[in-house]
Amino acid sequence: MCGIIGYCGPKPMAEVLLEGLKRMEYRGYDSAGIAVRTNAELSVIKRAGKIATLREAVPPELYGDCGIGHTRWATHGGVSDSNAHPHLDDSGKVAIVHNGIIENYTVLREKLSSEGVEFSSETDSEVIAHLVARLYDGDLTVTVQNTVQLLKGTYGIAVTHLDQPGLLVGARNGSPLVLGVGEHEMFLASDVTAIVGHTKQVIYLEDGEIVTISADEYRTTDLHDRSIDKHIQIINWELEEIEKGEYRHFMEKEIFEQPDSILRAMQGRLDHEYATGHLGGLNMTKKELLDLERVKIIAAGTSYYAGLVASYLIESIARIPCTVELAAEVRYRNPIVERNSIYFAVSQSGETADTLYAMRELQRKGARVLGICNVVGASIPRESDGGVYIHSGPEIAVASTKAFTSQLTALYIFTLLIARMRHMSYEQGTEFIQALEQIPEQVAAVLGGAPKTAELARTYHKARNFLFLGRGINYPVALEGALKLKEISYIHAEGYSAAEVKHGPIALIGPETPSLFLVPDDTLREKVISNMKEVKARNGQVIAVCAEGDDEVAALADHVIRVPRVHELMYPFVMTIPLQLFAYYTALELGRDVDQPRNLAKSVTVE
Ligand code: F6R
Repeated sequence: MCGIIGYCGPKPMAEVLLEGLKRMEYRGYDSAGIAVRTNAELSVIKRAGKIATLREAVPPELYGDCGIGHTRWATHGGVSDSNAHPHLDDSGKVAIVHNGIIENYTVLREKLSSEGVEFSSETDSEVIAHLVARLYDGDLTVTVQNTVQLLKGTYGIAVTHLDQPGLLVGARNGSPLVLGVGEHEMFLASDVTAIVGHTKQVIYLEDGEIVTISADEYRTTDLHDRSIDKHIQIINWELEEIEKGEYRHFMEKEIFEQPDSILRAMQGRLDHEYATGHLGGLNMTKKELLDLERVKIIAAGTSYYAGLVASYLIESIARIPCTVELAAEVRYRNPIVERNSIYFAVSQSGETADTLYAMRELQRKGARVLGICNVVGASIPRESDGGVYIHSGPEIAVASTKAFTSQLTALYIFTLLIARMRHMSYEQGTEFIQALEQIPEQVAAVLGGAPKTAELARTYHKARNFLFLGRGINYPVALEGALKLKEISYIHAEGYSAAEVKHGPIALIGPETPSLFLVPDDTLREKVISNMKEVKARNGQVIAVCAEGDDEVAALADHVIRVPRVHELMYPFVMTIPLQLFAYYTALELGRDVDQPRNLAKSVTVE
């Protein structure tokens, strides 16, 4: 969502802030701004548009002793210079940046207006600046502590005051905030990517915590000014991981990283001796795993589709009922938590509000919720009862790719573990492990066919609608393929079970609506071939993704993408890759902003 940066230290202020914002631009990119404290004033520069537009407006000689910056994904108030952060109070002495939503802002705004405050934006955030200014008593930390007690909703904030040289105060409730500890410099950020180029030492703030920083010191407190001791953690990301390197886009880089990221997700987790999985982070005893009667998965977007794939696998080989639900729907329908059940909250970012709030609601009801996350230290893994990190490395492109295949890997290993405690034999377990271990190489082979997919994208990029069709365990892959295409190319795409097409969507078929069929050589192959024939009979264009050597499918389709023949249950891995590539190359053909598609943002921290 939005991104926050704050800096106290000797480096060129504007440069540090702009660089931090650039690295967080994937979190939200409709407007941006900075406020720099000099001895004379708070200089605030903000612009609708991307960081590049802001950069043009910032004088290079803008130095100061502390500063804050923000990149926005609009919630309250349209995209405009005035709605961009930072926001100032009337006197121009207080500047704030805010992530999250202040739910009681209307009441606060009315009260402040009745006291004569003039607002210069339509945002919920601006009330914070006015409240800080009115409550200010010479101690900015205490003022912020008092201010946030008046707020309802979620916030990560950074505050500066003209009368407080070289000092920033941050606060967190429901929206991430990290303190970066450097050598004679300190940072605040909503996302470690903003500061990893400067320091690897970080402190993650918890809800209800306040931090005050200057270049040489930091202090963390609760809302009543009681000091809190926090541990410094070391980030293990390298700068290259958050840079594009030789690739044109982060999305391209992340697609091509998958042989490595899948391997990382399985490393140390496959037990060859006993043909099972090993996931220490689950924090569950063997007895608890054996007593499991139900697995439930909650997630959003691409992570939801990873959960759907897993539900097929869990039911088919572990023989445990598994349901998957959109996290946003869970929280407000008074979910029933059953005994001997576990929930997985699957989330790349670990900060998705829909998933986080659903998880909290389930935990309130006594559920055991395990996280499957990528970002270490994010809210979901911190608050979950255990879980699995997928170790994909930073995913910067807004469209999720490598996280999906790594989420699958983690869920496959979990399934192996519980299946081996039930019906799966040693031989079957060994066969499953062997099949899983071949995936990185097989994914690399599919990536080798990228130029062919690029050619297909050239052929089809003018289509206005697309259908993605699959069955069984590959049906969720079709849904994911459609999501990928629509979010970055803006072509309308729908995913369906191939069987479902005849129940309605077939009305869309014609020369202008191509269909992409997933046709692995599994038990449903014949059925999918029949569905393909139904589409061909209505003059539909068909692209088929099928197994190497499947000449029958190739002969039926207008175009074909071949993937290696793999274990029947492993097709979701190799079938996903061409769909990611197809979306990527189509977006390129159309000249779309691949890494930062319109209206979207990475890590959706509002409901
Ligand atoms: C799609 C995409 C989104 C996310 C969704 C959940 O490419 O990126 O649909 O998958 O917002 O995000 P996480 O996994 O961070 O909870």
